[in-house]
Amino acid sequence: MTTQREGILIVDDEEGVRRLLKRKLLSQGYRCEEASSAYQALDELRNKAIGLVILDIKMPGKSGVQLLPEIRASYPDTVVIMATAITDTSTAIYCMKLGAYDYITKPFNLDEVVLSVDKALEKRRLELENRDYQRHLEQKVEEQSRKIRASFLNAITSLAYALEAKDKYTSGHSQRVAEISVAIARDLGLPQDSINKIELAGQVHDIGKIGVRESILHKLGKLSAEEFQHIKYHCEVGERILTPIVEDEEILKIVRHHHERYDGKGYPDGLFGEAIPLGARILAVADSYDAMTSERPYRRAMSAETACAEIEHGKSTQFDPEVADVFLRAQRLVSSVV
Ligand SMILES: [Fe+2]
Repeated sequence: MTTQREGILIVDDEEGVRRLLKRKLLSQGYRCEEASSAYQALDELRNKAIGLVILDIKMPGKSGVQLLPEIRASYPDTVVIMATAITDTSTAIYCMKLGAYDYITKPFNLDEVVLSVDKALEKRRLELENRDYQRHLEQKVEEQSRKIRASFLNAITSLAYALEAKDKYTSGHSQRVAEISVAIARDLGLPQDSINKIELAGQVHDIGKIGVRESILHKLGKLSAEEFQHIKYHCEVGERILTPIVEDEEILKIVRHHHERYDGKGYPDGLFGEAIPLGARILAVADSYDAMTSERPYRRAMSAETACAEIEHGKSTQFDPEVADVFLRAQRLVSSVV
């Protein structure tokens, strides 16, 4: 006797047929439901967990042939065995083409019915198991690659911080830029997903400075045109370093364009206005503010007030006016509280 518990739905307009099948299947340990019409069958399928349907081909009203495609479409995990008169096997074969698993002929040989039901349910079980396994495997692979990407990214962020830590003037800069950018993005009402990307871009935006010669990075005097050209290069280098790790195009573009200016006079591509990704326009404000309020080898740190005046002054030229306004509003709020 089998111990399988899948529910079987017997659909036949003749009560005697249903009773006969039910008695046999119950004796085999199956749970059985009955339906005397296609409509009742759909009702049972909607409300109960049915693994297999034994479906009479000829029924008054909607026939089994008509009901079969509906079951296949709405309950693809339910197997269907057609029940037919011995004289009508061609219809039964047609039904198998429509997705029925097997057919049994009336008058029934009950042992053959049980055999067919066992086989059909075994096939269904294997299919479901296989699909679950496949799904589980895909999830595992996805999870693993996400972990690998995250740990790469952590390494890159640590590297960015380590580079800054060597220089007391830029120490903590990326983290502060990330924090200010997140605050602006939040005030702009951006979705959390975008805020997360902006935060990440803020943390690694200057990673390309790895490729800038130290003598230029820490030069006290004015930079020559050639040196300035070299320093500009860090945007593209940053994008290139991050490309194999960060699959997200948005983050890469924020890093590439964080020195663009709203009036199109920035670098590396001289993008203008809203052609500059919003995240990069946000970073530009945060980056400038933090640079101005930090000490530099060649100047003292500006006060928050002076830096805000500079941002105000740069509205529509260096900065997106809306982003600048959101930042300034928040800054003033902080200052008035202090
Ligand atoms: Fe930069």
